[in-house]
Amino acid sequence: MNEVLEVIEQRISLRAYSDIPISSEEEEAILHAAMRAPTAGNQMLYSMIIIRDQERKQLLSELCDHQPFIAKAPLMIIFAADHHKWFRYYQKNNVKQFCEGKAFQFEAPQESDLLLAIQDTMIAAQNSVIAAESMNIGSCYIGDIMENGEKIKELLNLPQYTMPIGMVVYGHYPQGFPKLPKRRFDKQFVVFEDEYQQLSDEQIDEMFREEDAHYDPNNPHQAENYAQQFYARKTGASFSKEMARSARFWLKQWDGRLL
Ligand SMILES: Cc1cc2nc3c(=O)[nH]c(=O)nc-3n(C[C@H](O)[C@H](O)[C@H](O)COP(=O)(O)O)c2cc1C
Repeated sequence: MNEVLEVIEQRISLRAYSDIPISSEEEEAILHAAMRAPTAGNQMLYSMIIIRDQERKQLLSELCDHQPFIAKAPLMIIFAADHHKWFRYYQKNNVKQFCEGKAFQFEAPQESDLLLAIQDTMIAAQNSVIAAESMNIGSCYIGDIMENGEKIKELLNLPQYTMPIGMVVYGHYPQGFPKLPKRRFDKQFVVFEDEYQQLSDEQIDEMFREEDAHYDPNNPHQAENYAQQFYARKTGASFSKEMARSARFWLKQWDGRLL
């Protein structure tokens, strides 16, 4: 295994940090790695917002489903999908006037633009994660940054055609911290060849066998199996409802209306 593969293999989501701060050189390397990620049309359809202010970190840890460890992270970066800058550029350069009388129309960013920007955004984020890991700096994604859209938009002063997609918090591993990679589903359930392969009921049972072993008969939701237990804890939980509501708030602006 080469060094890159080893870094990928050893990475875990880190939620506790040593006191060693992240140096400016390390931070620069993390940001640089993010910016070297592939990007659709070389457009870099994202912005990275580094949160330095401790009060903001605290507030964000609350707004992101009350996860206190977030506020303790030495480095916090919000990765926002961003078509704002390109549309400013288009508008400044009279693209609307250019479109008049031509076969195409000047349309606001639409759903497809957002999806493309999300691809850019998360690829950049993951480059930053791997770069950090290569310097023994752990990280953790915080998907809850998609919640509380109205408050996050105001707090971060986010303009039109931006959307926070991911937050990543980083910090050095505490000394002797056990890096125990979490189990993944077996390859046969994830990797298909040439076309999608629908799994049989028996294969679904087999895929989730280890999950099923984590069923807790004393769970607080009176769930009768692990699927019910997991749904109650994650997919159907109140934070997921808030994420769904907030995502609709963000999505509204990407409607491709005529400009
Ligand atoms: C999109 C995304 C959102 C996540 N959001 C959170 C989060 O809000 N809080 C958290 O503690 N971990 C979060 N994680 C970390 C996952 O729980 C973690 O990646 C998963 O359990 C697998 O563990 P590993 O990263 O150690 O392999 C998130 C990961 C991803 C990719």
